[in-house]
Amino acid sequence: MTALKNDRFLRALLKQPVDVTPVWMMRQAGRYLPEYRASRAHAGDFMSLCMNPEFACEVTMQPLDRYPQLDAAILFSDILTIPDAMGQGLYFETGEGPRFKKVVSTLADIEALPIPDPHKDLGYVMDAVSTIRRELNGRVPLIGFSGSPWTLATYMVEGGSSKDFRKTKAMLYDNPQAMHLLLDKLAQSVTSYLNGQIMAGAQAVQIFDTWGGNLSAAAYQEFSLAYMRKIVSGLIREHEGRKVPVIMFTKGGGLWLESIADAGADALGLDWTCDIGEARRRVGSKVALQGNMDPTVLYAKPEAIRTEVGRILASYGKGSGHVFNLGHGITPEVDPEHAGAFLRAVHELSAQYHE
Ligand code: CP3
Repeated sequence: MTALKNDRFLRALLKQPVDVTPVWMMRQAGRYLPEYRASRAHAGDFMSLCMNPEFACEVTMQPLDRYPQLDAAILFSDILTIPDAMGQGLYFETGEGPRFKKVVSTLADIEALPIPDPHKDLGYVMDAVSTIRRELNGRVPLIGFSGSPWTLATYMVEGGSSKDFRKTKAMLYDNPQAMHLLLDKLAQSVTSYLNGQIMAGAQAVQIFDTWGGNLSAAAYQEFSLAYMRKIVSGLIREHEGRKVPVIMFTKGGGLWLESIADAGADALGLDWTCDIGEARRRVGSKVALQGNMDPTVLYAKPEAIRTEVGRILASYGKGSGHVFNLGHGITPEVDPEHAGAFLRAVHELSAQYHE
């Protein structure tokens, strides 16, 4: 394998010294880019982009080609590939978000769910990872990812996106054993899926717990964090002679950072509701931090974006252990010029915080 030309993302995740703070954006390959919309039209739809390794590679590279400041690439795929591989029948209704043909409602439904084999059932994702690695040719590291068991369970039980998680919460409280069986099957599936991505060439992995912050403090520990901890303990942590850092991102997890930092990951993703300097004081000796600009700041003008980047860098302060990112995914309405101003500001303003 080619040596990495830019490894500051991996170094910051392990709190090793860097020249400037590395940066990438959640959902960096997506609808705010006209070149992405053109590729999607060419492929037909979103899932066709995900399922064809050449298309997945093409759209992964688009933000890197547009923004030379990006310090990492992220696999173009979706967290819902796992429930799809379990036989739930994922589809996207235009403008409606994800939907499943089958919904998980009973213990019998859960007992019948298979654990997907990453190579047989999700081979298109493994192929996308190896294709992207080849195309990157050492330019920047490639991030693999998965949803957390809890977040995946919400989509499987609701049959799609939800505002209140009515069915999932009812199952959790009415039938905790059934919920635990579902989460356990998902944890096994996620572990082998992420290990498959690592063996195929992913150099870091992120677990997206998008809906963990919607749980009570007690339920978060028992129904989300416990399963992420289990996944992390089963992951390959070194490959090709390098550490493979794990990033755990619970959106809305700011109140629980101490316990999340104890779950075995190398880094925590932060949403924008917490102050990153305070987060560092709470957990910084244990883990690196990734985040955490409010993605809606990108609707403001470049001067305001730059001010906000400066404020977050100053709050984190001197030294390594910070990967700059948004606190959640970039939205389709953002002007690509504003994303560029954001990325440039991170590198320009962060040099003063590193030796
Ligand atoms: O970050 C990247 O550039 C990599 C690609 C990526 C996508 N989805 C592509 C995508 C990643 C990392 C994801 C993760 C994902 N998917 C999450 C967790 C992260 C988060 O945002 O909280 C979740 C909850 C999903 C499920 C999902 N996929 C939803 C709810 C939707 C519809 C809502 C929306 O934003 O449109 C998707 C579709 C999706 N996944 C798109 C992209 C680029 C848009 C599809 C399109 O092009 O029409």
